[in-house]
Amino acid sequence: MSMDLRNLAGRPVIIGGGIAGLMTALHLAPEPVVLLSRSPLGADASSVWAQGGLAASVGDDGDPALHLADTLAAGDGLCDADTARRIVYAAPAAIEDLARLGVRFDRTPEGTLRLGLEAAHSRRRIVHADGDGSGREIMRALVSAVRSTPSIVVVEGVEARRLAVEDGRVTGVLASCSTSPVFLATGRVILATGGIGGLFDDTTNPLGNCGQGLALAARAGAIFADLEFIQFHPTALDGPGRPMPLISEAVRGEGATIVDETGRRFLDGVRGAELAPRDIVARAVWRHLAAGHRVFLDVREKPGATFAQLFPTIASACGKAGIDPAHDLIPIRPAQHYHMGGVAVDLVGRTSIPGLWACGEVASTGLHGANRLASNSLTEAVVCARWVAESIAASPDGSGKRAMAPDLPAADQGPVRPLLSRALGVTRDGEGLEGAARALLPLLQRHDAASGPATVGLMIVIAALLRRESRGAHFRTDFPHHATVARRSHLTLDAAIAVARELASSPALESIP
Ligand code: SIN
Repeated sequence: MSMDLRNLAGRPVIIGGGIAGLMTALHLAPEPVVLLSRSPLGADASSVWAQGGLAASVGDDGDPALHLADTLAAGDGLCDADTARRIVYAAPAAIEDLARLGVRFDRTPEGTLRLGLEAAHSRRRIVHADGDGSGREIMRALVSAVRSTPSIVVVEGVEARRLAVEDGRVTGVLASCSTSPVFLATGRVILATGGIGGLFDDTTNPLGNCGQGLALAARAGAIFADLEFIQFHPTALDGPGRPMPLISEAVRGEGATIVDETGRRFLDGVRGAELAPRDIVARAVWRHLAAGHRVFLDVREKPGATFAQLFPTIASACGKAGIDPAHDLIPIRPAQHYHMGGVAVDLVGRTSIPGLWACGEVASTGLHGANRLASNSLTEAVVCARWVAESIAASPDGSGKRAMAPDLPAADQGPVRPLLSRALGVTRDGEGLEGAARALLPLLQRHDAASGPATVGLMIVIAALLRRESRGAHFRTDFPHHATVARRSHLTLDAAIAVARELASSPALESIP
């Protein structure tokens, strides 16, 4: 690396180059900031793959109170209502921010925003760009804006491996680069590292996203929230390709149906049918597959002839799989898609560790509850990035001395992926979760390339084990009902390890409080 990172000491350091990281950097300008990205900007951020756009009440009948009501209903009793209200009411301004930064949103011939419909939305309120290429278009504009902002130093090909914490506050980031580990002294670190798709066999996310930000925060001692809530998208293209191509919910918003091999619309008895909340549709598809059926999306009648024009990215993925959606049914199955849980943050992104903020999928603001409403995540990332930036700008730097933490190898999720795929699927049970916890604990303790993914996996497994109810995306076959009181969950790595150790020394789960 030609740049001497030591000269950048004291600046806020953003870890992650997706929409949350780029927007935070742009909102911080002209304050100097360092943005670390594992890959060239835009190369493998899950943001680039987002098909659905941003949910925002911007149309003629766009009432944020309805957006809020839909968000709370989908979240199945677990949303933080105040956070949700603040975010959905700020969503229209976030769309304006993006438009100002050069994002070309889809518009009607009259110039108003063209709005799509997705599951569990009572109104058309999804703002798209480039049809089903929303993430790609947003990232194009943001990468260009970041590259032309002199106060943002982008450091590509560098991965954060440890956070330095002294006297309970963040004092720096230890990162790897091609030559040797580097230490960035800073008292202000922002995690914007995305999700956990790479920890699952079936995912719609980039396989390199395996919870690196969660592992950094866990080892630093942060508090996590709602980790057990993992969203499965019901309509991933079922074929050999990994990651699995996504078939956006917007396709069902335009009238596509879900059928089995006999042509039966097995969701037609479900309230909302194909446009029921995502957890409900995913479970119905999962159970139908488990019962030995095949499941398909039928776009032949609706959206019909306009399919390829409306959804060029999906049409191309179908073409590559040898499927002609004008004539063929599209085989589908649920795949891991989004993590509702994450590092617990307040509305301005502050974690439990002074000097550490989080924004985007890695964070848990409480907006999503037990089941995220479609297209609320990009909205959350863009809205919260502004508030995170304001909070950072108002906080003093507290850089520390050079950290002596040893370097760690890049994450290898290979040994963890089959364990999580089995235990943390669309449905879970105590026996499977306990087995996964027992297998993950020694992997975590090896302190090798698998220990980061195992740390993240163990925390999620323990959170799922401790939630003895079914709610939203967390469905326990051994506890199939709602608990009387809905409570968000909170967990630290130490607490998760303590539960796993107790489990390892005692076969009886019932002894765990
Ligand atoms: C989709 O386009 O179906 C996904 C949108 C989202 O995950 O919010």
